[in-house]
Amino acid sequence: MQDKPVQDNSLNKKSTAWSGRFNEPVAELVKKYTASVDFDKRLAEFDIAGSIAHAQMLGAQGIISLDDVAKIEKGLAEILTEIQAGSFEWLLDLEDVHLNIEKRLTDKIGDAGKRLHTGRSRNDQVATDVRLWLRATVDDILVAIKKLQLSIVDLAEQHADTIMPGFTHLQVAQPVTFGHHLLAYFEMLKRDAERFVDCRKRINRLPLGAAALAGTSYPINREMVAKSLGFDGVCENSLDAVSDRDFAIEFTAASALLMTHLSRFSEELILWSSPRFAFVDIADRFCTGSSIMPQKKNPDVPELVRGKTGRVNGHLVALLTLMKGQPLAYNKDNQEDKEPLFDTADTILITLAIYADMLRGVDVNKANMRQAALEGFATATDLADYLVKKGLPFRDAHEAVALAVKHAVQKKCDLADLPLADLQQFNALIQEDVYAVLTLEGSLASRNHIGGTAPVQVKKAIERARQIFN
Ligand code: ARG
Repeated sequence: MQDKPVQDNSLNKKSTAWSGRFNEPVAELVKKYTASVDFDKRLAEFDIAGSIAHAQMLGAQGIISLDDVAKIEKGLAEILTEIQAGSFEWLLDLEDVHLNIEKRLTDKIGDAGKRLHTGRSRNDQVATDVRLWLRATVDDILVAIKKLQLSIVDLAEQHADTIMPGFTHLQVAQPVTFGHHLLAYFEMLKRDAERFVDCRKRINRLPLGAAALAGTSYPINREMVAKSLGFDGVCENSLDAVSDRDFAIEFTAASALLMTHLSRFSEELILWSSPRFAFVDIADRFCTGSSIMPQKKNPDVPELVRGKTGRVNGHLVALLTLMKGQPLAYNKDNQEDKEPLFDTADTILITLAIYADMLRGVDVNKANMRQAALEGFATATDLADYLVKKGLPFRDAHEAVALAVKHAVQKKCDLADLPLADLQQFNALIQEDVYAVLTLEGSLASRNHIGGTAPVQVKKAIERARQIFN
């Protein structure tokens, strides 16, 4: 949507929607402090949709005339066009998106415009707008998550048997496949998507009809409005409907978790693309250079994802804090819900999009990954398991292998490079066949169960993962 900047040209004070009982105009600073139109104009499209549904219900219930309804619909449709064209004049004096649109409507259609607000308050109106906006946003986010998941699965498929060291404590632990490692993030995103789907259910309830806080004396039909706006039902308590923003907090919590997952992934990409690891190369178009060090190629995108996670976590804390001290019902505090919410949505949508593209530009250095897996005694557990299968209790096997590792460290070689005679010093059960388990491929292949890193299992996991795209 294009946009005209909000105008701060003072109106005749008598013309504000609520100034009738006031003896002096609101102070300039207060006007600036309390106005929200700068940011809530973003809700315009939803505000208009909500108003049309409300007007139609008022008409159907005989609360206003059908002639007025027709004028309201026509006027609001024109206003929507003006807003989309960027020609709508937003005025700070009119405080927020609701009053700006209502004033314009009244200028266009006269008394019919003044009847639109019958049986409604800005309190239930804004709660409705935010829910409509958030519902649409969640739907966009679900699409964006899927797109990223597809990038992950495609990369995992190329690397279903690419060997890398798996880490615990950032120390080489056991060999894994890169495909398996990537699919861990697929799973995290799957749960993130589930959280958004689940929170959407609670977003998708209609507050309208709650009016300011207690409901309204007009014979309204809330179910009709809910149905026409695509809500699953109505908020069943008017005080709750206008005041709680738990759905926004939930959304932000789901977003913070999503960012946390992407931040972990980013930390890995940053490490892996460092020349110390040199596991991956991130395409140049996702990196920047240094203005002083000509040799530098910096992984800015993953670094910013990690950084922006702090921002989204901050929004979660802001919304929780916004809510915690509020008595029932609506308080102006709630106006502060919008900027954190908008910024959360913007941040995660652009992050998801850039991530999906960036993964398609990740080049994997298989040789370096393999070399790293060979360097950290990654098959030590396999040697212990080998001894257990030959009858040794696990704790004894662990001890024997620890001593063998110590020996290999002294000889500056890998376990697989030790001659059989050396290995047999640590346990006589060790035979020639031990070399099969000491290889990276042997180690991987043996972890052959659902959730394991064996390449055959990774391929099955990819098949299962692809089902979400059908
Ligand atoms: N701009 C307000 C908000 O975002 C709209 C509701 C204002 N209601 C009121 N009684 N002042 O919450």
